[in-house]
Amino acid sequence: MMKNRDRWRLYKSMSVMFFLIVVAVTVVQRTGINRGVPFELESLARMDVSGGVEPGAALEKKAGFYQDIKGFWKVSKHQQQSKVQATVHEPRITEDSSPRAWDVTSSNCSANLNLSSQDWFRGLEGNFKQFMLYRHCRYFPMLLNHPEKCTGDIYLLMVIKSVATQHDRREVIRKTWGKERVVDGKKIKTLFLLGKPSNDAERANHQKLVEYEDYIYGDILEWDFLDSFFNLTLKETHFLKWFHTYCTRVHYVFKGDDDVFVSVENIFEFLESSSHEKNLFVGDVIFKAKPIRKKENKYYIPHALYNKTFYPPYAGGGGFLIDGTLARRLHWVADTLELYPIDDVFLGMCLEVLHVMPVKHNAFKTFGLVKNKSSKLNREPCFFKSMIVVHKLLPSDLLHMWKMVNTDLVCTQKAEILRIA
Ligand SMILES: *[C@@H]1O[C@H](CO)[C@@H](O)[C@H](O)[C@H]1NC(C)=O
Ligand SMILES: *[C@@H]1O[C@H](CO)[C@@H](O)[C@H](O)[C@H]1NC(C)=O
Ligand SMILES: *[C@@H]1O[C@H](CO)[C@@H](O)[C@H](O)[C@H]1NC(C)=O
Ligand SMILES: *[C@@H]1O[C@H](CO)[C@@H](O)[C@H](O)[C@H]1NC(C)=O
Ligand SMILES: *[C@@H]1O[C@H](CO)[C@@H](O)[C@H](O)[C@H]1NC(C)=O
Repeated sequence: MMKNRDRWRLYKSMSVMFFLIVVAVTVVQRTGINRGVPFELESLARMDVSGGVEPGAALEKKAGFYQDIKGFWKVSKHQQQSKVQATVHEPRITEDSSPRAWDVTSSNCSANLNLSSQDWFRGLEGNFKQFMLYRHCRYFPMLLNHPEKCTGDIYLLMVIKSVATQHDRREVIRKTWGKERVVDGKKIKTLFLLGKPSNDAERANHQKLVEYEDYIYGDILEWDFLDSFFNLTLKETHFLKWFHTYCTRVHYVFKGDDDVFVSVENIFEFLESSSHEKNLFVGDVIFKAKPIRKKENKYYIPHALYNKTFYPPYAGGGGFLIDGTLARRLHWVADTLELYPIDDVFLGMCLEVLHVMPVKHNAFKTFGLVKNKSSKLNREPCFFKSMIVVHKLLPSDLLHMWKMVNTDLVCTQKAEILRIA
């Protein structure tokens, strides 16, 4: 007769095998479908290019990174003037004031039906109505937690926004840039941020898989809110709260998407070469972006939600770097601001409250490399070798590019590469 324990073991190993098979099948499928279309480049989708961009910005994008190789790790020029300003009346956050555990245990938050009597609300599209009805629901319980990730002294914590179904993307990241290790005595840790799968079918199939995946790797934070596009801001605020709760000794945080290429080597080089002050927030920063008013656009925002002409400066959510102290201060601000449906813009709003100017760096390409999708530059390993973040790669291409960049790649013709772009 089988003992309970043996039965449990058998059950466990069968589940793990099932999970691995699913991952393998997914990877194989993706690889097959996507050959020949290596990098989808998103154009500057999030901002209205018809006007708002600073005159210098476009020029800067084109002229790019290779021109001034020596000064590469320096930040863009117009950035220098807009240094960090002094912070005004912000309550001091002492170490003691933060709780030592996730303190939200109930998801009980009902829709704000007060809104339905208001004209401006009735005029909104369905997804915005949904957003507004639940905007006051600030925090949710944790389904998967890993407080131990933040114990000890950590130099770089890499947190990656992902969703339940993207097992293969996480798999590749763990093998490539997200691999946990110690470099020169400096610890690198990796975490994935998830909400609940957003439809019933996914919930039925993938939630269990996510749990097994987490059982194997122990690197998934999952919260009890729906993983929808408009709930990405919740992912941001939940991470900041989590970080504030558990991570007292993390020096830097890299936060990014699960479909980007990241060079950790270059992050290290950047952090060590730049004599940055406090309040480090660096990425693909957009200045004076206009809210998009075309309804067909993914980033459309009705006037009822935002009525100013420009957004505050913000970094594309594909990947940015921030220091631990600033992340803890951001939690305080994020906690007090009304939620905004676009997560990276929301973070820009928080920075504005803190009077911290995000820094633009050319090695962060979260809005695409060059507009011309067929440009050779988009497949050029030497280009990737000199970047910190590049948006946006499918798992198989990421693995391929990672291997290319991390072999004995000799890059001599940097100038050439720029010209063919
Ligand atoms: C959630 O709220 C409803 C109504 O306010 C209440 O009936 C229910 O018991 C609550 N559930 C939990 C788990 O607190
Ligand atoms: C709805 O309106 C009532 C009365 O004005 C108020 O007490 C309540 O807090 C409002 N509900 C929400 C979710 O804002
Ligand atoms: C965000 O998640 C909450 C909790 O699951 C859900 O009630 C709400 O509808 C979601 N909002 C959007 C806009 O999807
Ligand atoms: C813009 O929105 C704010 C807050 O929602 C409101 O107080 C203000 O009156 C609005 N301004 C215009 C011009 O609509
Ligand atoms: C895009 O790049 C390809 C290859 O470099 C070139 O042949 C093509 O003319 C370019 N298209 C545009 C619109 O610049």
